[in-house]
Amino acid sequence: MIFLIGFMGSGKSTIAVQLGERLALPVIEMDTEIEKQEGVSIKDMFSQKGEPFFRQKETELLQNIKADSVVSTGGGVVEREENLEAMNVGKVIYLQASWETICERLIGDTDRPLWRGEESEKKKKFTDRQSMYEQAADLTVEVDNRTPEEITEIILKRLKG
Ligand code: S3P
Repeated sequence: MIFLIGFMGSGKSTIAVQLGERLALPVIEMDTEIEKQEGVSIKDMFSQKGEPFFRQKETELLQNIKADSVVSTGGGVVEREENLEAMNVGKVIYLQASWETICERLIGDTDRPLWRGEESEKKKKFTDRQSMYEQAADLTVEVDNRTPEEITEIILKRLKG
C-alpha cells in the first residue's frame, strides 16, 4: 500500500495514476471517493456541512482501505493523528513542492475550499504543514521542475532500493 501525501497542487493525483499503472495496483483518489460516496462535491460539502464533516469522512475512508493500492490523499490528511496511524500499514511518500510551485499550479483554482482568501493564511497553512508531512513520510521526493514521469521513476527506484 502506498500513500501519497503533500500540499494541494503537489501532484498527488497525477503521480498516483502513474504509479498505479507501473505497479499494476488500483488507485484510490480519496477526494473523488468521498464525493462519490456523499454525492456532493468537496467544495459544496465544505460549505453545506463544514470542514469537520469532511474530515470525519476522510478518516473513515482511510481506515477502511484494505486492498493493496496507491492512495492519493487530500492535503490535510496529516492533520489528524488517527490518519497517520491508519497510514502506518503502508509506505508514505511525500511529494514536496515549494510555495512558488504550488502558487503557479493553483492560479485560478476555485474548486478547493481551502485555497482561497488571504495569501498570508494559505502560506501559513503551507508552512505549518511542512513538518507534519516530513514526520509522516517514509520517503520524500522534491517535485519542483520535474515532470510526473521523472517523479514516478524516482519513486519506483527508491521503493526498490
Ligand atoms: C485539502 C485538500 C484537498 C481536499 C480538501 C482539503 C486540504 O485535496 O482534500 O479540499 O486540507 O489541504 P488536494 O490536496 O487533493 O487538493
